[in-house]
Amino acid sequence: MTNGLTDDEVKAITTAVEHAIAYRQGVPDRPVPPRICLDEAVARFRTALTGEGQSAEDVISDIIRDADDGLNQMSSANFYGYVLGGSHPVGVAADMMLSAWGQNAGSAFETPAITGMERAVCDWVIDLLGLPEGSGAGLVTGATVANTEGIMAARHKLLAQQGWDVEQDGLFGAPEFPVLIGEAAHSAPLAALRYAGLGAGRVTKLKTDSEGRIEVEPFLKALEACDRPPLAILQAGQINSGAYDYFDELVPAVHARGGWVHIDGAFGLWLAAVPELAERLRGVELADSWAVDLHKWLNAPFDAGMVIVRDRAPLVASMSAWGSYLPETTAHWEPTDSTIELSRRARGIPVYAILRHLGRSGVRELVSRHCRLAGEIAQKLSAEPGLQVLNQVVCNQLALVCGDDDHGDNLTQQVLELVQQNGKVYPTHGEWQGRFIIRISVICYATRDAHADTLVDEIITAWRQVQQHPVKNVTAT
Ligand SMILES: Cc1ncc(COP(=O)(O)O)c(C=O)c1O
Repeated sequence: MTNGLTDDEVKAITTAVEHAIAYRQGVPDRPVPPRICLDEAVARFRTALTGEGQSAEDVISDIIRDADDGLNQMSSANFYGYVLGGSHPVGVAADMMLSAWGQNAGSAFETPAITGMERAVCDWVIDLLGLPEGSGAGLVTGATVANTEGIMAARHKLLAQQGWDVEQDGLFGAPEFPVLIGEAAHSAPLAALRYAGLGAGRVTKLKTDSEGRIEVEPFLKALEACDRPPLAILQAGQINSGAYDYFDELVPAVHARGGWVHIDGAFGLWLAAVPELAERLRGVELADSWAVDLHKWLNAPFDAGMVIVRDRAPLVASMSAWGSYLPETTAHWEPTDSTIELSRRARGIPVYAILRHLGRSGVRELVSRHCRLAGEIAQKLSAEPGLQVLNQVVCNQLALVCGDDDHGDNLTQQVLELVQQNGKVYPTHGEWQGRFIIRISVICYATRDAHADTLVDEIITAWRQVQQHPVKNVTAT
């Protein structure tokens, strides 16, 4: 028996690599959305498991054939849905290698090359985002887990200040601390509060303005009412409007009361990498912990995100698989000291490759190009009678409505459906200021001026068509 590769395995890997190249080369010519529905995909794949198994090459070829029309071209320059990066090809190349290497990234001793690269990623991202040098950092699956870890580090510190060891004694009978969060927060930090045992419902929700920013005065009043140092969760990049909280006013006020500030900056934190835009984030670096995605604006292949905590000790105390009764941190940088997982994929390696490929100026160009394009798209769409961009475009997010909803025929939804069916471009929906919106996120590494023009044309054409032939009473999804 050889532990190398059989001919069949070589063929399977070759087929996969050749397909990966052909697929990505063909993405611009494909309709963006999948062409089959979920039921059809499930029926196709969810068959009885074969008794005998199949050759490796056949399995890979079958998967390629059967998945083809069920893929959404999320790596396309014309994909504007949710807030998703486009899996940069250099990251994809590195991702393939790391699967072949089969490294479990949990141990610095066992996989030094991986830890070396991941440490560089942590340093580089902290530096690019202008966050405090020497902060603790963990490479995680995305902003949901990064928010969870940041909130767990805060939980450790705020309870330790009250003489409670949450890692040892849990939350039953623990002292309380107030949690403040904006009304327009993403669902991820609320989920994180649930995962951390703090409850999504026992928070003080703070009034936000028309852009989704926490209003300063009510926040300061709520802070005054806190009987103990609170956890305040702020936002860099509201999912619909892209807005940023007033960090420079809110963070020092929380600190004056001994509290902890956590910032959900899943995509918005990346503005810090562009000196001419970083001003919009003024004061963000004063916080205690931050959650940021790497698979959004940095376009790392899924899944990759990062938690950053100014003081590494509470992060290690809450994450370390060895428990808080052992020395505060291991002498060297151990990946599992700052992540929930013990065994894990080396998801920092594609990020390492992307950062080396782009360099500082490449990251800056990427983020500033998207912000410029978002502004131009907003201008062009707003010039069409009946189209209205509801938000001030401060980064890469747009909230668009078509016509008014006075007649209950939800023209915006009709336009979105038509645009999606046509398949050339793919924005998705959201809800903002009580209205169904077309949400446009300009974030794919490949999106350039010509793509933005196509998006504008597709939306305007669909809007004109819908005005001529509106369908009454579409039910909002
Ligand atoms: C502001 C914000 N926070 C958190 C998340 C959750 O990120 P993830 O899906 O990477 O867990 C998102 C996702 O869009 C987001 O926009």
